[in-house]
Amino acid sequence: MVNKVYLNGEYLPLSKAKVSVLDRGFLFGDGVYEVIPVYNGQLFRFEDHIIRLENSLTNIRLGLSYNLEKWREILQPLLASDRDQYIYLQITRGIAAKRDHAFPISPVPTVFAMCSDIQHFAAREKGVKAVTMDDSRWDLCHVKATTLLANILLRQQAVEQGCAEAILVKNGYVTEGAASNIFAVIDGVLMTPEKSGEILPGITRDVIIELAQTHHIKISENIIALEALKSASEIWITSSTREIIPVVELDGKPVSEGRPGPVWKAMNDLFQQYKQSVS
Ligand code: PDD
Repeated sequence: MVNKVYLNGEYLPLSKAKVSVLDRGFLFGDGVYEVIPVYNGQLFRFEDHIIRLENSLTNIRLGLSYNLEKWREILQPLLASDRDQYIYLQITRGIAAKRDHAFPISPVPTVFAMCSDIQHFAAREKGVKAVTMDDSRWDLCHVKATTLLANILLRQQAVEQGCAEAILVKNGYVTEGAASNIFAVIDGVLMTPEKSGEILPGITRDVIIELAQTHHIKISENIIALEALKSASEIWITSSTREIIPVVELDGKPVSEGRPGPVWKAMNDLFQQYKQSVS
């Protein structure tokens, strides 16, 4: 349950937090966001999330010079220490008197944050179904933009087919999920597409790569052809709110034996231990 939220310098009950209809976030989706997990009251990989936020702001040419400590000061009062939560943080280009696609001359950003409980993703242990779809998004997928209509339509189509995620494919190569990164075990090597404008550089993705390197799991950041994905012995989708989810059925066909695989089990254990060790 969300109690109080942060909006432009104030802490308010959710019902009292209001944004103008002239806010460019509302009119254009002109903004960026972050989703930051909180375990035992500790912001998980906080610096990495703030660096990604700064990159998103730079990419949309929106100036907001808050440092890490300023962000911590803003977010800390929203956190509880007794349960798993996540911060949703959004910054838009603020209110402009006239609706015009071009930027206002001196924008005053709208800064909003709220904290919600993370619901344990019940399907994690048994795995989920996924479906491949054409990646119809733009060239700036590394920007965590609030303009998510393409992702929403793709995820919705997947859900309507009884699947938890749409796995996106561009020019015959896998990019990522509608709201997740993708990993696959192919010929015994854990693979994930390398960072580019075609994917969001996920923080969960970074943690998995680091854990694989530390624990001698063969890992390669490289292109994954759709055909290779179809022959993978394991497929996972990863994100801050769902962590590491095994995909046990792809396009109606079982992945390997249709059960979460041994590499997922090992990585999920390492990930849970890592979370404990830093929170
Ligand atoms: N989304 N790719 C996309 C398109 C995403 O939307 C997300 C996460 C990820 C994974 O990134 P991370 O590991 O940093 O959460 C990859 C969040 C959770 C969301 O939009 O709610």
